Amino acid sequence: MNLKQKAAEKAVEAIQDGMKVGLGTGSTAYWAIQKIGERVAQGLHIQAVATSQASEDQARELGIPIVPFDQIGRLDVTIDGADEVNEQLVLVKGGGGALLREKIVESNSNRLIIIVDESKDVKVLGAFPLPVEVVPFASVWTLEAIQQTGCQAEWRMKDGERFLTDNGNYIVDCHYGTIENPQELEIRLNQIPGVVDNGLFINMADQVIIARANGQIDVRN
Ligand code: A5P
Repeated sequence: MNLKQKAAEKAVEAIQDGMKVGLGTGSTAYWAIQKIGERVAQGLHIQAVATSQASEDQARELGIPIVPFDQIGRLDVTIDGADEVNEQLVLVKGGGGALLREKIVESNSNRLIIIVDESKDVKVLGAFPLPVEVVPFASVWTLEAIQQTGCQAEWRMKDGERFLTDNGNYIVDCHYGTIENPQELEIRLNQIPGVVDNGLFINMADQVIIARANGQIDVRN
């Protein structure tokens, strides 16, 4: 079993019958969805919402009941991956481009469990470029304004075109090197007209599960 799968399976232990569950996005959340699917096949009853089309498709294939977010109410728990986590449980997310839906779903969850392998556990955030979702209108100006916050900013590309999120927006990947004050940066970025949201998740994770190569699984609360 790989490390992502180990962290994911540990997190899925928190899901109980009758819960409303948020499904994350990415190669780690993938394993959580697989495990949830396995438990649903064995009789677990849950309702779920997905943070991306890809996760929704995977869940539906596994027979996990997907409910529109507007109809489900507040969630009991969401399980998702992250690109970086620090000791204060601040996260960088959005490497897969699903940051906006993730932030909406996870803000409406009673509990957020983050699952990572040890490579994502960092002392200082920022080595992983911070994803920022921007509306396409006048986005060149938005990118310039983002650069003023002290990063080298580049468009995320896919097949030679600008990457489009599930919401029809662009992603700007921001190379800060180090992010010393995530709280201040999050506010500054979201104040730029044209920015929809950014990949800093602060005061959101309740628990981070870190699978290590030595076989240990650390749980950080
Ligand atoms: C999706 O947009 C992201 O926030 C993912 O949760 C994050 O990038 C982690 O992805 P992996 O588990 O694939 O590394």
